[in-house]
Amino acid sequence: MAEPVEIFEVGPRDGLQNEIRPIPTVEKIALVDRLSQAGFRRIEVASFVSPKWVPQMADGAAVLAGIARAPGVRYAALTPNMTGYAGARAARADEVAIFASASEGFSRANLNCSVDDSIARFLPILESARADGMAVRGYISCVTDCPFDGPTPPGAVADLAARLIDLGCYEVSLGDTIGQATPDSLTAMLRAVLDRVPAARLAGHYHDTAGRACDNIEASLALGLRVFDAAVGGLGGCPYAPGAQGNVATEAAMDRIESLGYTTGLNRAAILDAAAMARQMRTGA
Ligand code: HMG
Ligand code: MG
Repeated sequence: MAEPVEIFEVGPRDGLQNEIRPIPTVEKIALVDRLSQAGFRRIEVASFVSPKWVPQMADGAAVLAGIARAPGVRYAALTPNMTGYAGARAARADEVAIFASASEGFSRANLNCSVDDSIARFLPILESARADGMAVRGYISCVTDCPFDGPTPPGAVADLAARLIDLGCYEVSLGDTIGQATPDSLTAMLRAVLDRVPAARLAGHYHDTAGRACDNIEASLALGLRVFDAAVGGLGGCPYAPGAQGNVATEAAMDRIESLGYTTGLNRAAILDAAAMARQMRTGA
Protein backbone atom coordinates (compact mmCIF):
# COMPACT_ATOMS: atom_id res chain seq x y z
CA MET A 1 0.00 0.00 0.00
CA ALA A 2 1.22 3.53 -0.78
CA GLU A 3 2.77 5.41 2.14
CA PRO A 4 0.61 8.30 3.39
CA VAL A 5 1.77 11.92 3.22
CA GLU A 6 -0.39 14.56 4.87
CA ILE A 7 -1.15 17.95 3.35
CA PHE A 8 -2.07 20.50 6.03
CA GLU A 9 -4.33 23.05 4.35
CA VAL A 10 -3.40 26.61 5.36
CA GLY A 11 -5.18 28.56 2.61
CA PRO A 12 -7.93 30.13 4.75
CA ARG A 13 -5.19 31.62 7.00
CA ASP A 14 -1.82 31.89 5.27
CA GLY A 15 -3.54 32.33 1.93
CA LEU A 16 -6.24 34.85 2.68
CA GLN A 17 -4.25 36.95 5.19
CA ASN A 18 -2.43 38.60 2.32
CA GLU A 19 -5.43 39.49 0.15
CA ILE A 20 -6.04 43.22 -0.23
CA ARG A 21 -9.78 42.92 -0.93
CA PRO A 22 -11.66 42.65 2.38
CA ILE A 23 -13.11 39.16 2.03
CA PRO A 24 -16.56 38.76 3.59
CA THR A 25 -16.72 36.28 6.48
CA VAL A 26 -19.37 34.22 4.66
CA GLU A 27 -16.96 33.61 1.79
CA LYS A 28 -14.25 32.43 4.18
CA ILE A 29 -16.72 30.09 5.87
CA ALA A 30 -17.84 28.72 2.49
CA LEU A 31 -14.22 27.99 1.54
CA VAL A 32 -13.52 26.21 4.83
CA ASP A 33 -16.74 24.19 4.51
CA ARG A 34 -15.72 23.07 1.06
CA LEU A 35 -12.22 22.16 2.28
CA SER A 36 -13.76 20.19 5.14
CA GLN A 37 -15.19 17.77 2.56
CA ALA A 38 -11.88 17.26 0.71
CA GLY A 39 -10.15 14.78 3.02
CA PHE A 40 -7.87 17.02 5.13
CA ARG A 41 -7.18 16.12 8.74
CA ARG A 42 -6.03 19.64 9.65
CA ILE A 43 -7.07 23.03 8.25
CA GLU A 44 -5.74 26.37 9.51
CA VAL A 45 -8.71 28.69 9.38
CA ALA A 46 -7.91 31.85 11.35
CA SER A 47 -5.38 34.14 13.02
CA PHE A 48 -5.89 35.81 16.37
CA VAL A 49 -3.36 38.57 15.75
CA SER A 50 -3.64 42.34 16.05
CA PRO A 51 -6.34 43.53 13.60
CA LYS A 52 -4.23 46.66 13.10
CA TRP A 53 -1.44 44.47 11.76
CA VAL A 54 -3.52 42.03 9.68
CA PRO A 55 -7.05 43.41 9.18
CA GLN A 56 -8.03 40.57 6.85
CA MET A 57 -7.91 38.11 9.79
CA ALA A 58 -9.98 40.24 12.20
CA ASP A 59 -13.03 37.96 11.86
CA GLY A 60 -11.36 34.74 13.07
CA ALA A 61 -13.89 34.15 15.84
CA ALA A 62 -16.81 34.56 13.41
CA VAL A 63 -15.19 32.16 10.95
CA LEU A 64 -14.71 29.51 13.63
CA ALA A 65 -18.29 30.05 14.84
CA GLY A 66 -19.77 29.79 11.34
CA ILE A 67 -18.07 26.73 9.88
CA ALA A 68 -19.68 23.30 9.79
CA ARG A 69 -17.10 21.23 11.66
CA ALA A 70 -16.54 17.90 9.98
CA PRO A 71 -15.76 14.89 12.14
CA GLY A 72 -12.07 13.98 12.10
CA VAL A 73 -10.94 17.45 10.96
CA ARG A 74 -8.95 19.69 13.31
CA TYR A 75 -9.41 23.44 12.88
CA ALA A 76 -6.27 25.44 13.74
CA ALA A 77 -5.57 29.09 14.53
CA LEU A 78 -2.43 31.23 14.68
CA THR A 79 -1.74 32.94 18.03
CA PRO A 80 1.14 35.40 18.66
CA ASN A 81 0.49 36.09 22.35
CA MET A 82 -1.91 35.40 25.24
CA THR A 83 -4.58 37.74 23.83
CA GLY A 84 -4.57 35.63 20.70
CA TYR A 85 -4.55 32.37 22.63
CA ALA A 86 -7.56 33.46 24.71
CA GLY A 87 -9.41 34.41 21.51
CA ALA A 88 -8.63 31.12 19.80
CA ARG A 89 -9.67 29.11 22.82
CA ALA A 90 -12.95 31.02 23.24
CA ALA A 91 -13.65 30.40 19.53
CA ARG A 92 -13.07 26.65 20.07
CA ALA A 93 -10.03 26.24 17.85
CA ASP A 94 -8.88 22.61 18.05
CA GLU A 95 -5.22 23.60 18.12
CA VAL A 96 -3.13 26.74 18.00
CA ALA A 97 0.14 27.68 16.33
CA ILE A 98 2.91 29.93 17.58
CA PHE A 99 5.26 31.43 15.01
CA ALA A 100 8.87 32.42 15.40
CA SER A 101 11.54 33.41 12.93
CA ALA A 102 14.98 31.94 12.36
CA SER A 103 16.17 35.46 11.52
CA GLU A 104 16.08 38.60 13.65
CA GLY A 105 15.10 40.89 10.75
CA PHE A 106 11.90 39.01 9.97
CA SER A 107 11.05 38.60 13.66
CA ARG A 108 11.07 42.38 14.06
CA ALA A 109 9.03 42.94 10.89
CA ASN A 110 6.44 40.27 11.68
CA LEU A 111 6.17 40.34 15.47
CA ASN A 112 7.78 43.68 16.38
CA CYS A 113 10.28 41.98 18.71
CA SER A 114 13.46 39.90 18.79
CA VAL A 115 13.40 36.12 18.42
CA ASP A 116 14.09 35.67 22.16
CA ASP A 117 11.32 38.11 23.09
CA SER A 118 8.90 36.26 20.80
CA ILE A 119 9.72 33.01 22.61
CA ALA A 120 9.10 34.75 25.94
CA ARG A 121 5.62 35.73 24.69
CA PHE A 122 4.96 32.14 23.64
CA LEU A 123 5.86 30.63 27.02
CA PRO A 124 2.54 31.50 28.71
CA ILE A 125 0.68 30.17 25.65
CA LEU A 126 2.53 26.86 25.97
CA GLU A 127 1.88 26.74 29.70
CA SER A 128 -1.86 27.48 29.36
CA ALA A 129 -2.20 25.09 26.43
CA ARG A 130 -0.64 22.31 28.49
CA ALA A 131 -3.16 22.95 31.28
CA ASP A 132 -6.05 23.18 28.78
CA GLY A 133 -5.04 20.06 26.81
CA MET A 134 -4.67 22.23 23.67
CA ALA A 135 -2.14 21.08 21.07
CA VAL A 136 0.40 23.69 19.94
CA ARG A 137 2.18 23.67 16.61
CA GLY A 138 5.29 25.78 16.02
CA TYR A 139 6.24 27.61 12.83
CA ILE A 140 9.71 28.80 11.95
CA SER A 141 9.91 31.42 9.20
CA CYS A 142 12.79 32.21 6.86
CA VAL A 143 14.44 28.81 7.23
CA THR A 144 16.85 29.34 4.33
CA ASP A 145 16.53 33.02 3.34
CA CYS A 146 15.33 36.21 5.01
CA PRO A 147 14.24 39.31 3.06
CA PHE A 148 16.09 41.48 5.59
CA ASP A 149 19.09 39.44 6.80
CA GLY A 150 19.97 37.34 3.73
CA PRO A 151 20.82 33.61 3.94
CA THR A 152 19.83 31.91 7.22
CA PRO A 153 22.46 29.69 8.88
CA PRO A 154 21.08 26.10 9.13
CA GLY A 155 22.33 25.91 12.74
CA ALA A 156 20.00 28.78 13.75
CA VAL A 157 17.00 26.84 12.39
CA ALA A 158 18.11 23.64 14.14
CA ASP A 159 18.53 25.45 17.48
CA LEU A 160 15.10 27.07 17.22
CA ALA A 161 13.36 23.88 16.08
CA ALA A 162 14.84 21.93 19.01
CA ARG A 163 13.81 24.75 21.35
CA LEU A 164 10.20 24.74 20.13
CA ILE A 165 9.97 20.96 20.51
CA ASP A 166 11.50 21.15 24.02
CA LEU A 167 8.94 23.82 24.92
CA GLY A 168 6.08 21.51 23.99
CA CYS A 169 5.21 22.01 20.31
CA TYR A 170 3.97 18.72 18.90
CA GLU A 171 5.30 19.56 15.43
CA VAL A 172 7.46 22.28 13.89
CA SER A 173 6.63 23.61 10.44
CA LEU A 174 9.68 24.90 8.56
CA GLY A 175 8.77 27.93 6.46
CA ASP A 176 10.49 29.06 3.29
CA THR A 177 8.60 32.30 3.74
CA ILE A 178 9.88 34.06 0.62
CA GLY A 179 10.14 30.97 -1.58
CA GLN A 180 13.83 31.31 -2.34
CA ALA A 181 15.01 27.90 -1.10
CA THR A 182 16.60 25.54 -3.60
CA PRO A 183 16.61 21.77 -3.11
CA ASP A 184 20.30 22.15 -2.14
CA SER A 185 19.88 24.95 0.42
CA LEU A 186 16.78 23.27 1.80
CA THR A 187 18.56 19.91 2.13
CA ALA A 188 21.45 21.54 4.01
CA MET A 189 18.99 23.17 6.42
CA LEU A 190 16.97 19.95 6.87
CA ARG A 191 20.08 17.88 7.59
CA ALA A 192 21.01 20.29 10.40
CA VAL A 193 17.48 20.19 11.83
CA LEU A 194 17.22 16.40 11.54
CA ASP A 195 20.32 16.04 13.74
CA ARG A 196 18.20 17.53 16.53
CA VAL A 197 14.53 16.77 15.73
CA PRO A 198 13.09 13.58 14.15
CA ALA A 199 11.39 13.86 10.76
CA ALA A 200 8.10 12.70 12.32
CA ARG A 201 7.93 16.00 14.27
CA LEU A 202 8.61 18.24 11.23
CA ALA A 203 6.54 19.70 8.41
CA GLY A 204 7.58 21.60 5.28
CA HIS A 205 5.92 24.96 4.56
CA TYR A 206 7.11 26.18 1.21
CA HIS A 207 6.10 29.27 -0.72
CA ASP A 208 6.28 29.08 -4.49
CA THR A 209 7.71 32.50 -5.35
CA ALA A 210 10.51 31.03 -7.50
CA GLY A 211 8.50 28.01 -8.72
CA ARG A 212 10.59 25.53 -6.72
CA ALA A 213 8.17 24.56 -3.94
CA CYS A 214 7.31 21.14 -5.41
CA ASP A 215 11.01 20.36 -5.98
CA ASN A 216 11.60 21.33 -2.35
CA ILE A 217 8.79 19.01 -1.24
CA GLU A 218 10.43 16.23 -3.22
CA ALA A 219 13.82 16.92 -1.56
CA SER A 220 12.11 16.88 1.86
CA LEU A 221 10.34 13.57 1.14
CA ALA A 222 13.74 12.04 0.38
CA LEU A 223 14.85 13.08 3.89
CA GLY A 224 11.79 11.56 5.56
CA LEU A 225 9.34 14.47 5.99
CA ARG A 226 5.73 13.37 5.58
CA VAL A 227 3.69 16.53 6.31
CA PHE A 228 3.50 19.59 4.04
CA ASP A 229 1.54 22.82 4.35
CA ALA A 230 -0.20 24.08 1.22
CA ALA A 231 -2.95 26.49 0.16
CA VAL A 232 -5.64 25.74 -2.41
CA GLY A 233 -5.32 27.84 -5.53
CA GLY A 234 -1.79 28.87 -4.45
CA LEU A 235 -3.28 31.63 -2.32
CA GLY A 236 -1.00 33.59 -0.11
CA GLY A 237 2.12 35.38 0.79
CA CYS A 238 3.06 37.12 3.98
CA PRO A 239 2.21 40.77 4.62
CA TYR A 240 5.54 41.29 6.43
CA ALA A 241 7.83 39.52 3.95
CA PRO A 242 8.47 41.73 0.92
CA GLY A 243 8.36 39.65 -2.25
CA ALA A 244 6.67 36.65 -0.64
CA GLN A 245 4.14 35.15 -2.98
CA GLY A 246 1.72 32.27 -2.68
CA ASN A 247 2.05 29.11 -0.72
CA VAL A 248 2.56 26.03 -2.82
CA ALA A 249 -0.86 25.23 -4.33
CA THR A 250 -2.49 22.24 -2.65
CA GLU A 251 -3.42 20.79 -6.03
CA ALA A 252 0.19 21.00 -7.28
CA ALA A 253 1.62 19.56 -4.04
CA MET A 254 -0.94 16.72 -4.16
CA ASP A 255 -0.04 15.90 -7.78
CA ARG A 256 3.72 15.92 -7.13
CA ILE A 257 3.43 13.84 -3.95
CA GLU A 258 1.11 11.29 -5.58
CA SER A 259 3.29 11.10 -8.73
CA LEU A 260 6.10 9.92 -6.44
CA GLY A 261 3.98 6.99 -5.26
CA TYR A 262 2.61 8.35 -1.97
CA THR A 263 -1.05 8.81 -1.10
CA THR A 264 -2.50 12.06 0.28
CA GLY A 265 -6.03 10.77 0.89
CA LEU A 266 -7.42 13.92 -0.73
CA ASN A 267 -10.40 14.00 -3.07
CA ARG A 268 -9.07 15.50 -6.28
CA ALA A 269 -12.41 16.83 -7.55
CA ALA A 270 -13.12 18.51 -4.20
CA ILE A 271 -9.63 20.07 -4.17
CA LEU A 272 -10.01 21.46 -7.70
CA ASP A 273 -13.42 22.82 -6.79
CA ALA A 274 -12.03 24.56 -3.68
CA ALA A 275 -9.06 25.88 -5.68
CA ALA A 276 -11.42 27.46 -8.22
CA MET A 277 -13.37 29.03 -5.38
CA ALA A 278 -10.17 30.34 -3.76
CA ARG A 279 -9.02 31.93 -7.02
CA GLN A 280 -12.41 33.61 -7.43
CA MET A 281 -12.17 35.02 -3.91
CA ARG A 282 -9.04 36.88 -4.98
CA THR A 283 -10.93 38.93 -7.49
CA GLY A 284 -14.34 38.98 -5.83
CA ALA A 285 -15.85 37.88 -9.17
P1 HMG B 1 2.64 45.30 18.86
O1 HMG B 1 2.02 46.49 18.17
O2 HMG B 1 4.11 45.28 19.03
O3 HMG B 1 2.04 44.95 20.29
O4 HMG B 1 2.16 44.02 18.06
P2 HMG B 1 1.09 45.51 21.34
O5 HMG B 1 1.07 44.44 22.37
O6 HMG B 1 1.52 46.90 21.68
O7 HMG B 1 -0.37 45.57 20.66
C1 HMG B 1 -0.78 46.56 19.73
C2 HMG B 1 -2.30 46.56 19.65
O8 HMG B 1 -2.77 45.28 19.18
C3 HMG B 1 -2.97 46.77 21.00
O9 HMG B 1 -4.21 47.42 20.73
C4 HMG B 1 -3.27 45.37 21.47
O10 HMG B 1 -4.35 45.29 22.35
C5 HMG B 1 -3.63 44.68 20.16
P3 HMG B 1 -4.37 49.03 21.02
O11 HMG B 1 -4.05 49.19 22.49
O12 HMG B 1 -3.36 49.69 20.13
O13 HMG B 1 -5.81 49.29 20.64
N1 HMG B 1 -3.33 43.26 20.17
C6 HMG B 1 -4.19 42.31 19.73
N2 HMG B 1 -5.44 42.38 19.25
C7 HMG B 1 -6.03 41.21 18.88
N3 HMG B 1 -5.41 40.00 18.99
C8 HMG B 1 -4.16 39.90 19.48
C9 HMG B 1 -3.50 41.09 19.87
N4 HMG B 1 -2.28 41.35 20.37
C10 HMG B 1 -2.19 42.66 20.55
N5 HMG B 1 -3.57 38.71 19.55
C11 HMG B 1 1.75 41.68 17.72
C12 HMG B 1 2.61 42.71 18.42
C13 HMG B 1 2.38 40.31 17.89
C14 HMG B 1 0.35 41.69 18.31
C15 HMG B 1 1.70 42.06 16.22
O14 HMG B 1 3.00 42.21 15.76
C16 HMG B 1 0.98 41.03 15.39
O15 HMG B 1 -0.21 40.83 15.50
N6 HMG B 1 1.72 40.33 14.50
C17 HMG B 1 1.18 39.29 13.68
C18 HMG B 1 1.65 39.44 12.28
C19 HMG B 1 1.07 38.33 11.42
O16 HMG B 1 -0.01 37.82 11.66
N7 HMG B 1 1.83 37.96 10.36
C20 HMG B 1 1.44 36.97 9.45
C21 HMG B 1 1.48 35.58 10.01
S1 HMG B 1 3.13 34.87 10.07
C22 HMG B 1 3.29 34.07 8.59
O17 HMG B 1 2.48 34.23 7.74
C23 HMG B 1 4.44 33.13 8.40
C24 HMG B 1 4.00 31.66 8.45
O18 HMG B 1 3.00 31.41 7.47
C25 HMG B 1 5.18 30.74 8.20
C26 HMG B 1 6.01 31.16 7.00
O19 HMG B 1 5.50 31.22 5.89
O20 HMG B 1 7.18 31.47 7.25
C27 HMG B 1 3.42 31.29 9.83
MG1 MG C 1 3.52 31.06 5.20
